[in-house]
Amino acid sequence: MTDKSPQQILKEKLGGRNIFLIGMMGSGKSQTGPDLANILDYAFVDIDDVLEKASKQSIADIFEKDGEKGFRDLEKQVLKEIIQHHSLVIATGGGLVTVPENWGILHQGIVVWLDLDIDRSIKRIQSDKKKRPLLDNDDLLKTFSSLYKRRKPMYLECDLRIKVEDQSPHEVAAMIAEKLPTILVKPENQGV
Ligand code: S3P
Repeated sequence: MTDKSPQQILKEKLGGRNIFLIGMMGSGKSQTGPDLANILDYAFVDIDDVLEKASKQSIADIFEKDGEKGFRDLEKQVLKEIIQHHSLVIATGGGLVTVPENWGILHQGIVVWLDLDIDRSIKRIQSDKKKRPLLDNDDLLKTFSSLYKRRKPMYLECDLRIKVEDQSPHEVAAMIAEKLPTILVKPENQGV
């Protein structure tokens, strides 16, 4: 009898359930996702990328034309499409958690919060505000901090909270893979 590797055991415990990465802009969801998918032998999907391709518009253009409400409606549609598939690591946009209806979907999978402090987040974002119209104003610190404060209670609804500091995406992915078994029970034991 051959012993199963920790990776095989983790895969079995996951049973194909999708993993959603949530967290503020700059927390590294899109960078960590591919590495995590690689470790788990899952596919990676970035909701913002799918949304831009499907709508043939940039996020900035959608916000400008249809406002945040229009963007959130599209985001919800994309989320509903994506979860028709299994075995995915899904990078969500930072504000997806603010739509209560989305939580019915998120809770069908495993929700991992990449929790990066405000100062580090802002440092990362400064160089890349392109697809982040909500931050498109002069006082980045004030705007970001108030969004973070409003959203924190929603991020706390996660299944797994990962404190991120200065690790590389690969290191963060390894931390997630290491912690996942602590929150997983086999699907058959859950009645799924
Ligand atoms: C948003 C975050 C962005 C993008 C959009 C709105 C938000 O994605 O979905 O600009 O409300 O926090 P990232 O979290 O990948 O930056």
